[in-house]
Amino acid sequence: MDALTTIERDEREAYLTRTPASRALHDRAREVMPGGDTRTGTFHAPYPLFIADGAGCHLTDADGHRYLDTLYNFTSLLHGHAFPPVLEAIARQAARGTVHGTANALQVEMAETLGARVPSVERLRFCNSGTEATMGAIRAARAFTDRPAIMKMAGGYHGSHDPVAIAMSAAETGRPPGVTANTAADVVVGRFNDLTDTTTLIRDHRDRLAAVIVEPMLGSGALVAERAFLDGLRQVTRDCGVLLILDEVITFRLGVGGLQQAFGVTPDLTSFGKIVGGGLPVGAFGGRADVMATFDPSRRGAIAHSGTYNGNATTLAAGLATLARFGEADVAAVNAGGEALRARLNAVIAQSGASAVVTGYGSLMQLHLTAAPVTRPDEGARADLRWVKLMHLALANRGVFSSTRQLYVLPTVITAVELDAFVAAFTEALGVVVAAQAAAAATAAVL
Ligand SMILES: Cc1ncc(COP(=O)(O)O)c(C=O)c1O
Repeated sequence: MDALTTIERDEREAYLTRTPASRALHDRAREVMPGGDTRTGTFHAPYPLFIADGAGCHLTDADGHRYLDTLYNFTSLLHGHAFPPVLEAIARQAARGTVHGTANALQVEMAETLGARVPSVERLRFCNSGTEATMGAIRAARAFTDRPAIMKMAGGYHGSHDPVAIAMSAAETGRPPGVTANTAADVVVGRFNDLTDTTTLIRDHRDRLAAVIVEPMLGSGALVAERAFLDGLRQVTRDCGVLLILDEVITFRLGVGGLQQAFGVTPDLTSFGKIVGGGLPVGAFGGRADVMATFDPSRRGAIAHSGTYNGNATTLAAGLATLARFGEADVAAVNAGGEALRARLNAVIAQSGASAVVTGYGSLMQLHLTAAPVTRPDEGARADLRWVKLMHLALANRGVFSSTRQLYVLPTVITAVELDAFVAAFTEALGVVVAAQAAAAATAAVL
């Protein structure tokens, strides 16, 4: 490993000095959780911030420092933290029982709401995470087609169950630990935004492929699917009798009917999560009535799919309160805010001379510390993680909470004050990265 520059050491030191309470909690956590962690995607060195409170666009850590949030629990808090109408809906429902152990009217209301927004969803089932949603959709596709294999894209993230753990990042080509060779053999890995290559693979495996699962914009990297790629996938899957699953766990917030509506693509099945739960754990999946009939309990040989908290009343009350405040005008406003922010960040990059680009769509975007253009995950994977980590730490030291991989999210409640504060901190943090890169290059030149 390259020796750290003084700049990197200073940022790390500043983080350690600022966050003794997080450090103490992490030390305790290490005694009871492996590595002190329970969520790989939010872990980072030397230890993550421990958060005590969230309100609106801000978080407060265990040391009492206030941060501008740019992540909102990985896109799920559409209206920011502790949004009063959502809190009221949760409190109202909790007073009537959080979960009752049988059907409730809110399930029907949410299924109707999602079906009205996303016409491809004729029938829907609830679960408790996006992971379970993609698992359920894949199971339905296998049961319906009686074929074993699926295709996913390299760099596509669909949660943490076994088949979709394969090629989770474009840089990972091996079999992940704990995933069996049999499971891996039933996963065909396609190339996002490469229609020729992916079409050939689908045709080659047409007899054993149950489904292709793809995000209309890769959440990992905020890389938008080219229309021709999605249209081509729709065409070839239909030709081959393979189901198309659009994973809209993240992208549902980008259009009233998700990105499938914005892009005019009609999948066979769709998976949901995140904003649908209004900040509580949730998942849902649905689509064609004939495919979803594989779950119909009145049919012989139906798929048994249960879950203690499936369709629980509290989650659905929070989700309905969230979606009730997310109509056409709200979606357009937050997406326009995101487009404007992305343009500002790219202008900062151009001025700084950094080799970087911010990609994305509407209210979701990601910084890539590598030369533009970045349209496919393998191009994003060129970025040296060393600088991404420095950017993350430099932002934290300047009062901005961000994801380790620099995905930035806008909630509906953000104002010009927060946006200006973020651009100012981003400008400073990027300056730190550019200076550290120059120092590292100078050292390398001397050696
Ligand atoms: C596109 C996509 N699918 C599935 C998932 C898994 O959702 P969950 O974390 O709720 O299991 C995620 C989570 O980030 C996601 O982004």
